Amino acid sequence: MCGIVGYVGPQQAAPVLVEGLTRLEYRGYDSAGIAVLNPRSTAHPSRVVRAKGRVRDLEAALPARLAGTIGIGHTRWATHGEPSEANAHPHTSFDGRVHVVHNGIIDNFATLRSRLAVDGVELTSDTDTEVVAHLVARELAGQDGAGLGFEDAVRAAVAQIDGTYALAVLDTANPDRIVVARNGSPLLLGVGDGEMFVASDASAIVRHTSQVVLLDDGDFASVTPDGFRTFTADEEHTARSAVTIDLTVEELELGGHAHFMHKEIHEQPESVERMLTGRLDDRFGTAKLGGLNLDPRELRRFTRVKILGCGSAYYVGQLGASMIEDLARIPADAEPASEFRYRNPIIEPSTLYVVVSQSGETADTLFAVREVQRKGGTVVGLVNAVGSSIAREVDGGVYLHAGPEVAVASTKALTHMSIGFALLALALGRVRDLSHADGKRIIAGLRAVPGQIAQILAGEEELALAAKELAPAPSLFFIGRVRGYPVAREGAQKFKEITYRHAEAYPTSELKHGPLALISPELPTVAVIPDDDLVERNVTAAQEIRARGGAVVAITHPGVELGDAATRRIEVPRNEVELDPILLTIPTQLLGYHAAVALGEDVDRPRNLAKSVTVE
Ligand code: F6R
Repeated sequence: MCGIVGYVGPQQAAPVLVEGLTRLEYRGYDSAGIAVLNPRSTAHPSRVVRAKGRVRDLEAALPARLAGTIGIGHTRWATHGEPSEANAHPHTSFDGRVHVVHNGIIDNFATLRSRLAVDGVELTSDTDTEVVAHLVARELAGQDGAGLGFEDAVRAAVAQIDGTYALAVLDTANPDRIVVARNGSPLLLGVGDGEMFVASDASAIVRHTSQVVLLDDGDFASVTPDGFRTFTADEEHTARSAVTIDLTVEELELGGHAHFMHKEIHEQPESVERMLTGRLDDRFGTAKLGGLNLDPRELRRFTRVKILGCGSAYYVGQLGASMIEDLARIPADAEPASEFRYRNPIIEPSTLYVVVSQSGETADTLFAVREVQRKGGTVVGLVNAVGSSIAREVDGGVYLHAGPEVAVASTKALTHMSIGFALLALALGRVRDLSHADGKRIIAGLRAVPGQIAQILAGEEELALAAKELAPAPSLFFIGRVRGYPVAREGAQKFKEITYRHAEAYPTSELKHGPLALISPELPTVAVIPDDDLVERNVTAAQEIRARGGAVVAITHPGVELGDAATRRIEVPRNEVELDPILLTIPTQLLGYHAAVALGEDVDRPRNLAKSVTVE
């Protein structure tokens, strides 16, 4: 949801900003822009270049020479105002003195806009952000020329806005510094040698430094080439120190793959292996999850588990709930985090709340964490992004260690979430009635997962053929039952978000209660048919579809008798029944991917979406 970047130091700022924006493009790609200060030029002390579309469109719009060693940049996911050059950031104040980039939403922007308009300020965009530039400029100018200093002006402007923001501000009269502010949207500083960076996340600056300062909500910082000063609304100096991040440039490159999504799908065998390292306790048949900050006695006291996540993370949460019910025999369910706090949820001290998020920055999920904590509940996180807002705010958690995920459509992080739930279910089960033998059975199953994923990926050609057959259909069903239903939901989600085809997930058992009416030769179905207690019923349902002329792609296990119930059979190796859904999901990743490739869609950057949804 918008990416911001800033640079101050000895280098030319524009190339550093553009490279940073390219890395942040997954956060939004409706428009891009940069502002660069050049105090040596009296004609152009600041230059702003903006373009609708991608960072590459911005690059094409850049003049051959854009001198200046300090600047800010932005890549936009539109919230207020259509994608256009006028609405692209940076926004500039009425007097040309201030430039601002922003990630977040200013809730009271309409009131502020009207007030500014009454005062004669001409607004040139439809965005909520523009008001910030004008407010800062007004504070700098003051009345009768007695304005505030730059840092105080930003502080005074921010005091007037309600909402969420990561802001980076330039003042042409203070060309040695960037002033930033954070509330509810991610922001960090990168510490270099005689140079400093500002970014929404570390991927933007990893080429330059691995030392970052993670800002907290309420933080401001004044950033100069030699360092930074952090402060808040009430304090002039706060202590914030740098941490070293574990991220390499190679992890952010395509590495020979055509798309990041393809790369990330293929990384899974290795990344899952890495995630499991040190977390399986053979002796006691359990999982080692020290980060939960809950000892066995505390773990035992929970009588219910509530899982909260958004989108695909919510679907994995449904799978996690069934793992917890199966292995720990604790009632568990999943709910979209985006709905949770709006129904004034009852928070029970005996419920363990589990949030799940790749980015760790999803606003809806973060707000759910706060809702639970405000009401005295215990909330732990399954989070991928180390040091992210959710990871920092939860009471404990399990890092997913999937590594960076660049493609907007999530794949490997979701697999890691499922593994995270299996580990949590195992730990919860082993402090209850799950036997040592069953614990060891699950551990053996988990150990087999990386190799089995590799086996599924080896069948990619067959999956690509199936995907090509599915791609032309304007609409399709994904069906599954019980543990297979979250697999179907995620399969449909992946398919629709990157192919733009209508893909609807349904519990197989519910088809005959209505949607069967839609089945025709034009509407194919992807059916999840594992070799479990329901296999015969699932095969019968597939036959009912075939009888009405619908094609069926069955994702199934070796040995399952499908007869003529499927037009295509995709096999995944069998694991333990509780873990099977992890493997059944893998083919759906490749079905979505290859269908999108066949349709010529932009796989890594689907329209209207952004990777990290930091607005409500
Ligand atoms: C789908 C997808 C989204 C995310 C959702 C939550 O491919 O990626 O549905 O799962 O926006 O994001 P995180 O996991 O970052 O909280």
